Amino acid sequence: MAVEVVLNVNGMSLPVLLRDPARTLQDVLREDLGLRGTKKSCNDGYCGSCTVQLDGQAVKSCLILAVEAEGRAIRTIEGLEQAGRLDPIQQAFLEHGAAQCGMCTPGMVMSARALLDENPQPTLDDIKEAIKGNLCRCTGYVKIVDAIAAVAGVSAPKRSLERGRVALSGKRVAGHSKLRVDGRVKVTGKAQYVVDMTLPGMLYGKILRSPLPHARIVAIDTEAARRLPGVFAVITGHDLAIKPFGAFIADETGLARDKVRYVGDAVAAVAAVDEATAERAIQLIEVQYEELPFVIDPEDAMKEDAPLIHEVERNIAAHNRVVGGDVAQGFAEADYIFEDRFETTKQAHACMEPHVCIGHWDASGKITLYDSTQSTFFMRYHLSHIFDVPASKIRIVAPYLGGGFGSKSEVHAIHVCALWLSRLTGRPVKMAHDRDEEFIGSRTRHKEIIYLKTGVKKDGTITARQATVILDNGAYTSYGPGVSLTQSMLGGAVYRIPHYQYDGYVVYTNTPIGGAFRGFGSPQFTFAAESQADMIAERLEMDPLTFRLKNLTEPGDKAISGPMLTTNGAREALTKAVDAIHRTAGRTSAPGKLRGIGYAVGTHFTSGKFHPEANADFCGATVKVNEDGSVTVLAGVVEMGTGCSTTLSQIAAEELGVDLEDVTILLSDSDATPPDLGTFGSRATTLGGNAVRQACQAVKATLSREAATQLDCDPNRIVFQDKAVFDASRPERRILLADLVTGMMFRDGGGSHVMASAHFDAPCSLPDPETGVGDFAMSYSFGCHAVEVEVDPDTGKITVVQVVAATDCGNVINPVGAEGQVEGGVMQGIGYALYEDIKFAEGQPLNTRFGTYKIPTVMTVPPITAIWVETDDPRGVYGSKGLAEMGMVPTAPAIANAIYNATGVRITSLPITPEKILQGLPSAQNREVSSL
Ligand code: FES
Ligand code: FES
Repeated sequence: MAVEVVLNVNGMSLPVLLRDPARTLQDVLREDLGLRGTKKSCNDGYCGSCTVQLDGQAVKSCLILAVEAEGRAIRTIEGLEQAGRLDPIQQAFLEHGAAQCGMCTPGMVMSARALLDENPQPTLDDIKEAIKGNLCRCTGYVKIVDAIAAVAGVSAPKRSLERGRVALSGKRVAGHSKLRVDGRVKVTGKAQYVVDMTLPGMLYGKILRSPLPHARIVAIDTEAARRLPGVFAVITGHDLAIKPFGAFIADETGLARDKVRYVGDAVAAVAAVDEATAERAIQLIEVQYEELPFVIDPEDAMKEDAPLIHEVERNIAAHNRVVGGDVAQGFAEADYIFEDRFETTKQAHACMEPHVCIGHWDASGKITLYDSTQSTFFMRYHLSHIFDVPASKIRIVAPYLGGGFGSKSEVHAIHVCALWLSRLTGRPVKMAHDRDEEFIGSRTRHKEIIYLKTGVKKDGTITARQATVILDNGAYTSYGPGVSLTQSMLGGAVYRIPHYQYDGYVVYTNTPIGGAFRGFGSPQFTFAAESQADMIAERLEMDPLTFRLKNLTEPGDKAISGPMLTTNGAREALTKAVDAIHRTAGRTSAPGKLRGIGYAVGTHFTSGKFHPEANADFCGATVKVNEDGSVTVLAGVVEMGTGCSTTLSQIAAEELGVDLEDVTILLSDSDATPPDLGTFGSRATTLGGNAVRQACQAVKATLSREAATQLDCDPNRIVFQDKAVFDASRPERRILLADLVTGMMFRDGGGSHVMASAHFDAPCSLPDPETGVGDFAMSYSFGCHAVEVEVDPDTGKITVVQVVAATDCGNVINPVGAEGQVEGGVMQGIGYALYEDIKFAEGQPLNTRFGTYKIPTVMTVPPITAIWVETDDPRGVYGSKGLAEMGMVPTAPAIANAIYNATGVRITSLPITPEKILQGLPSAQNREVSSL
């Protein structure tokens, strides 16, 4: 029965007719009132992205019925900004760089506003308490707390915009901490993500997913679903006339055709008039399964008698080998050979914006896909192949993206289903993962089992390393071979290893698909290699610092696995991080608790060439100078929160002598922006920046010729500064950029606009197909994390007391943004080390909600100190190298080493739990080294 309610929202009385009285306040605010600053991320009360104020109190609007809110004062993020003036909390979030992807930001701001309304002078603990129910996957919470503390006047570490060091001497804009160019729309809730979008006539799609880990599909009855009023179309795998697809191996079909291979495999899809009808429809689809034996453990899956998941001889999707030198010789030269086994977990990306798209296949045959993707051109390339449609007939648009971390860089079932349903119905179709689907139906970090065999001399010199790695691929291949391939080459780049061999087996299991995830194989391999570095040092009775310093690669080295380490800040990062942690460690030690310090070194690449079909690694940019002297940049990378829209704008402003505010940047629309592989692999600033810089230089050449004619000088002497140009020897004779461009544009017979494009392809190459050795990336970043932990010997509880993260990412373009990347990376690393893991029982995933799969909250954030090691890389724009992924690479082994230092318990399998510590403590106290 329909009811009318009058809601008092942001001071206005708004009548709403509710056909379903059970609708939530969140739903009504977003769908009926269009207030989509109130975000929708988990829908079950755990993430806080939907927080609003109700009579001043912060509430999660997905847990409140709209009828319950009648007669009460509702304030949403849209109600904070007054006459164009930001609320002080919004202003502080902006100035502290507290928003990255921005998906959590409105909820955070509203929780903070409610706190300060009630208690204008909170303590830091009060602040944390107030936002502990708001999850953020990007920032690591540090700058969020700082922003709130600044408004509250709490004495907190000062993190103002200019706190970051200025890395680039002589530069006005690049190298200086700058406000994010997308900051204001994010702190006001005006940033619209695909999950917030609707199109006229849009239908809602939903996917029926398998409840079984492995089963043959005997029959599917869709009749009842088709007959449900409001249902427009129902499809199964055999209706989808598409080519199989996959990032490396075409083993996915969107909807399963003959059998399902994991709990969550897509079986059928519907399009209906609204989400509720679509949900009801998929429940009416009856699938008859014949259960098959399943396998969850990747080592079991490799066995010859394991149930076969695909039509292959064994469950090995790919095997890649890197051979540098002769490991047999290296082991023969060793005084000791140490062999250890390590195991990592299936970590979930847990993006705050779930995977979502709106597909429209219009009557002319043109496909438009609004998508939460990290790569518009990869999507276009793959969809063109899948549907056999020319690329020019496909437009991919990625508006604001609520986090990706690698998971949004390929085609998923929702994309092909939404487009096929749109083709059938003639309407746009929106498909979004709910939170369960996001955990099981998107991608995960590969769980890995890593066997390391390392030979060393008595003095600690490494003579050889052999790595055998089993990657849990899940049910389909995705980026598995790429993850194995890149970790194989990076595995030989931290230490000078004369003889090296890596064998990676990408293994099918009946579990969710492993894919690209921040670090792309480095966090797994680094956990093993850096845990073993400490273990070897102890066995040799050496200090772990000495062992590392003895073996580290140096600038100019060519690593045994191929990378040319033109710049290499590993040694400086290690010594600076270790010095810094020793200066402050142990100061606040609690009685009865065990304290320890550990550290780890890691490396990661700046994008790279590792796909056999795509021997290219490019970014594209177009730069236009407008008749008012402002600059427009068009670039193909996607802003997923990492800050590339700001850094690319800084580079354009720097090159053209204008202010950051004079630059407008337009990203990620495949019809409008130049071709570009997208945002992944820590490439957007470094590669994209090179493209922007080259396009600017082409524009400057044109403008310089014109200016030189007018100023009667050599074009090479033209200087761009303060939105004007002048002859370097006569700066008093200036021409405003606006006048110069206007004069060129409005010219009778022969005028021109001022615009240029550039296509920057990274100077690197595919690995050698025989040996697997190759200098596959443009540059290599290094870093060291040093960690202090405290362990309660009675409970096993682990507290990370502080983290020092020293990073060599070349020169830093935007220090405050870079710091945010490190803080966010460290927090993902802490979650990876201590608790993040998708668990299974009887083939069923057990933790597919934020209530059961824990990611770090503000309550677990330690002090994080970011230190920069500047190595002025010759290939990256302004000497920069990749950063975003390096932020989490060495965190987990640093924590493992610190826990061993504190307790004597060596834990070689993630996550490091209190149970494992308690289990190991008795033998550790008897001075036996235990491995768990
Ligand atoms: S959407 Fe309401 S708490 Fe997550
Ligand atoms: S900025 Fe918090 S989830 Fe992205």
